[in-house]
Amino acid sequence: MLRDCSFGVYQGRPVEAISLSNGTLACRVLTFGGILQSLQVPDRQGKAVDVVLGCPSLDGYLAQDCYLGALVGRCANRIAGGRFSLDGQDYALAVNNGPNHLHGGPGGFSFQVWNIDSRSQEHVTLALHSPSGEEGYPGSLDVRVTYRLAGNALSIAYEAETDQTTLCNLTNHSYFNLAGHGSGPVLDQVLQLMAHTYTPTDETSIPTGEIAPVEGTPMDFLSPTPIGARIDAPFSQLIQGRGYDHNWCVDGQPGILRPAARAWSEKTGIVLSVETTMPGVQLYTANYVPEGLPGKDGALYGPRHAFCLETQFYPDGVNHPHFPSPILTPEHPYRHETRFTFSPLS
Ligand code: BGC
Repeated sequence: MLRDCSFGVYQGRPVEAISLSNGTLACRVLTFGGILQSLQVPDRQGKAVDVVLGCPSLDGYLAQDCYLGALVGRCANRIAGGRFSLDGQDYALAVNNGPNHLHGGPGGFSFQVWNIDSRSQEHVTLALHSPSGEEGYPGSLDVRVTYRLAGNALSIAYEAETDQTTLCNLTNHSYFNLAGHGSGPVLDQVLQLMAHTYTPTDETSIPTGEIAPVEGTPMDFLSPTPIGARIDAPFSQLIQGRGYDHNWCVDGQPGILRPAARAWSEKTGIVLSVETTMPGVQLYTANYVPEGLPGKDGALYGPRHAFCLETQFYPDGVNHPHFPSPILTPEHPYRHETRFTFSPLS
């Protein structure tokens, strides 16, 4: 079993590695970035397989910009030009991804040391206070994220409160490889997305505003399909993103925990089911992970060695009034949950 330990020091603050286990699943969470560093899941023989990519040390995390396993905020995904208006006031955020703002900016939640609010053998609640004006966002934000192991599920519950109207779109950026984190490309792993529509993007990955049907395109994962079956299809959305890097509009009612995705590896027999209260999910096939990125246990990661299922408000939602709104007000605290359940392939 993994033990809690120190994981180095970041900007003068000690970083802790917290180990959770419940007899079925085990995971390790870092206070730096709230990173899910490992997640051990039983394969069809009952042998534990670590199904998330991660780095062996804090230096490893600081040397990459892939958001491996990190909690992301204040506003996950992109904001066009880093610009938006709220209550008649214009805001300009740092631009850190081509012409756009990405994942809360260069000093976002993924790069901060979180506090441990509470913990037991099966859960840890991490907390962060984000002062007004941090990364250019208005209002202060108090955030709590709980990782909890329950039976064969890892649930991540997000809570946030503000004192002024602001944006809030929190996610976890785990890179899953259901054959094991060091096992190479995931192109033969099978994926199903419970989404009839997605949000096409321009060449800088900003949604055009269209909510397009997946039917008849390589974006259609309504039936379980290997991730690699159409990833290199001559479809402009896939060419410009070097693979899948898009938001799907999850069927059903946002706010209610409902199925968003299912994936499995024939090799290990591990099935992942994702349920969320969020309106969307970004499927990202690790297109920009650099070849030879040093991972845990001496593994070397590369493009397409994992898939992310980032549950979220649609990208650039603040600038598209017909998208679900990522605007948070003091009156309505932010409460969302995403649950990752693991079961054997039958
Ligand atoms: C984005 C990608 C980006 C990755 C790592 C994903 O959520 O959609 O475009 O490269 O995060 O930053």
